Amino acid sequence: MKKISHSPKETLQLGKSLGSSLIPGDIILLNGDLGAGKTHLTQGICYGVGLDEGSYIRSPTFTLINEYQGKLPIYHIDLYRIDSLEEIYSLGLEEILFNQGVTIIEWAEKLRSPKNHKNLILNIQDRIEINIEIVSESEREFTFNTFFPEPRSLPIYTLL
Ligand SMILES: Nc1ncnc2c1ncn2[C@@H]1O[C@H](COP(=O)(O)OP(=O)(O)OP(=O)(O)O)[C@@H](O)[C@H]1O
Ligand SMILES: [Mg+2]
Repeated sequence: MKKISHSPKETLQLGKSLGSSLIPGDIILLNGDLGAGKTHLTQGICYGVGLDEGSYIRSPTFTLINEYQGKLPIYHIDLYRIDSLEEIYSLGLEEILFNQGVTIIEWAEKLRSPKNHKNLILNIQDRIEINIEIVSESEREFTFNTFFPEPRSLPIYTLL
């Protein structure tokens, strides 16, 4: 499933629409180059989950994990600075991931299992994976893949 966004505003809207359909325990994995729009999309998702729209979201590049409170707790994780599996394990992410909040992870490809790239470490299975490609200065292509035991309809499928 692919969608093109033509502006940061559209990306925010896409995030909002996705965020409004999330439920406790959802995990969103974001991949895409520097400046692709992972944090913009996250901001929209947070608004969709009910965070005040004035709130400003930034990549937790140094803090690694930011927590916000919408209708559900939202955990925003950025793995950009992480370069080993040991470091990931030391973060204790399981407690966050398998909780009643929504978890959004930037640079999520760092969670791929080195033994089998189809799998993720930390026993992450159910998830929404989003890849963002930079098409031009203002265009971004979003590719959505969902991994759920039962098919689940997401509002992004009708948006843009
Ligand atoms: N259609 C678009 N959607 C989102 N951002 C866009 C779009 N067009 C241009 N941009 C610009 O791209 C940049 C995206 O920044 P953002 O911080 O969201 O990226 P990121 O993927 O989180 O980067 P990083 O890897 O550094 O965390 C912003 O400067 C934004 O204005
Ligand atoms: Mg970012």
